[in-house]
Amino acid sequence: MFPATDRRTVLKSGAVLAGLSLGGAGALAQQPSDRVEQLIARMTPEEKAGQLSSFSDQIRPIGKPFNPGLTAGGIAEQLQRVRAGQVGMLFNGVGYAGAKAAQDAAMQTRLKIPLIFAADVIHGLRTAYPLPIAEACAFDPDLAERTARAAALESTALGIHWTFAPMVDVARDQRWGRVAEGSGEDPYLGIMLAKARVRGFQGANLKDPTRVAACAKHFAAYGAVSAGMDYNQTEISRPTLHEVHLAPFQACVDAGVATLMSAFNDIDGVPASGNKWLMTDLLRGEWSFKGMVIGDYTADEELIAHGYAADGRDAALKAFNAGMDMTIQSDLFNRHLPDLVAKGEVSAARLDEAVRRVLRLKEQVGLFDDPYRSISRRAERSSVATPAMLKLSREAGARSIVLLKNDNNLLPLRKNPGRIALIGPFGDDRDNVVGTWAFMADRELNVSIAQGLAARKLDVTTVKGSDVLEPIAGGIEAAVAAARAADVVLLAIGESQIMSGEAQSRTDIVVPAPQMALAEAVAATGKPVVVLLRHGRALALHGAVANAPAILATWFLGSRAGESIADVLFGDVNPSAKLSASFPHESGQQPYFYNHKRTGRPAPDTGSQEYKARYRETRNEALYPFGHGLSYTRFAIEGVTVPARMTDRMEVTATVRNTGARAGDEVVQLYIHDVVASHTRPVRELKGFQRVSLAPGQAKRVSFTLVRDDLRFWGEEGWVVEAGLFHLWVAASSTGGERQQFELA
Ligand code: BGC
Repeated sequence: MFPATDRRTVLKSGAVLAGLSLGGAGALAQQPSDRVEQLIARMTPEEKAGQLSSFSDQIRPIGKPFNPGLTAGGIAEQLQRVRAGQVGMLFNGVGYAGAKAAQDAAMQTRLKIPLIFAADVIHGLRTAYPLPIAEACAFDPDLAERTARAAALESTALGIHWTFAPMVDVARDQRWGRVAEGSGEDPYLGIMLAKARVRGFQGANLKDPTRVAACAKHFAAYGAVSAGMDYNQTEISRPTLHEVHLAPFQACVDAGVATLMSAFNDIDGVPASGNKWLMTDLLRGEWSFKGMVIGDYTADEELIAHGYAADGRDAALKAFNAGMDMTIQSDLFNRHLPDLVAKGEVSAARLDEAVRRVLRLKEQVGLFDDPYRSISRRAERSSVATPAMLKLSREAGARSIVLLKNDNNLLPLRKNPGRIALIGPFGDDRDNVVGTWAFMADRELNVSIAQGLAARKLDVTTVKGSDVLEPIAGGIEAAVAAARAADVVLLAIGESQIMSGEAQSRTDIVVPAPQMALAEAVAATGKPVVVLLRHGRALALHGAVANAPAILATWFLGSRAGESIADVLFGDVNPSAKLSASFPHESGQQPYFYNHKRTGRPAPDTGSQEYKARYRETRNEALYPFGHGLSYTRFAIEGVTVPARMTDRMEVTATVRNTGARAGDEVVQLYIHDVVASHTRPVRELKGFQRVSLAPGQAKRVSFTLVRDDLRFWGEEGWVVEAGLFHLWVAASSTGGERQQFELA
């Protein structure tokens, strides 16, 4: 799917992908080796079930258990289970020593089938890179590929063969805490970044000992949980399911992703993790996926709570027969598959198929050649948190910062800006730097904003002023005093890192009240305020925060956040990121996404709004829409040429000019709208983007290629492309640009 659009963007953006084929696609297409078949022929049903079972690593745990129910067992029991052949994979353990012990135990089993080690390496491991929703703002597949590649390098140095990433759920409700892990609200951007990450993790050959198998998750439509509440039901139309939620998964399959993880939610009333249409008919039948599917954490067992299975045996039966090949943590496959096969409820062929997929994954990553692959004391010392990784973290962080607002060019600050008051709970904080799903990150690598500024020898007074959720006695008074004495205030406020991520849904996506009180008091001093937002989701900004002259969306930027922020504050890096998720005016606008459908009563920009699609209390548009992001220079997009008619393909060109005084990058975005169609179509849809670097005064011509498939949608019976009028914009955001048009023949 979307092969032409992908090729176009990659080539035109000049991304350096030479030598990186679409990772692993070739390897996955090959037939299982004799070695795998010979093993399957010798395995007992119990040994087969063992290969399909995985557990959270107790032998080299990462510290605080992330998921529920992890305290059972302990090292001795887990090693014993490995020796008994009841474990195919261990996950979320790190480091040489424990990995060696666990693999030694696997080598003592009858058939000596090695363990595979997996982990949630979502945006780095010891070295953290920007949270995916933040990194998506860079609109830069090449950057996403580089950070994934670096994460693979570090993971393999720490005894990990397989990452549970990329998370490719398109998320359009910022109340959902897991928006943090994905690429935002747009499927096209999500597809581009998903494919880049698969390439970055897997490379061309999974046997390369510095590469990891990737896992596209959560299959599927987890991003559509109702009301933004984690684990909730979904209500999705078929067109939206295919166009928005499934599209990034199919793109990953086409890019050769080795594995998929099934989701917690239901689709049309059937839980994804027990959904045969999803995991077998669509995935295997229509998409021809050859890799393996792992269920999310206890997702098979959760079929009982869903009311879709009666008990553990029934849950194992339904999940397994629907297409889940491996289970995490529930142990239901060990417990029930042998009996289910003996009684004929699960076919022997289905059991062998799942085992074949798991063993083939182990073979692909080279474990049958070397069970101790990636288990190296030397690599653990030399390839973790290297200077190159830390440099990349700093660079990626700066490239992910979105300049939302910059009245009177308050930013960048002069190199010698006078006295700075750094105010807020995140000014001098190293515990809320990397964000969610980086629980294995090394805190010692974290750079706070205060540290980032300290490296520049400035006159900085740091005052906390407020905790994240609670006021501090005397905090506001101290902050106001510091602001009064300062020439400029940096206000570091927002969400702590526990406020986004799994199970961290919010009803009100605002800066918490005590911090708002702090912001109001500081603003009242009249001093120029630069808001440095910290957040794992798009927020609804109000009052003194929304009205501050300068606002930087700094998300959770990874280990070197403080350096990245300082680089942008002082103009060493000219911000060029664009929002991957719209900032609404109010929480009540959620779910909010720029590419919403038209209605029969659209609210006009001017004139009466009576009986129109709108709210009483707020405007319809976003405060800052998808694709928005300013620079310290200015750009003009001019001379857009669009052919009057398109048959199979067409070129759209435009000139981008840097009309300001600094060098900078503009992300030029191409949007379309299908004016009349047999199904209602979004008001705009992103179909291409290019990052252009321009010196002051310089202009460049950019060119986009559109092919018919870019204009398709899900109709009554599947994908259709309908002739007729289309609108088109080449723009600097999802609301900008001059409307053009063309006719599709
Ligand atoms: C999450 C997955 C994760 C798994 C293993 C689950 O709770 O939904 O994204 O990969 O745990 O840690």
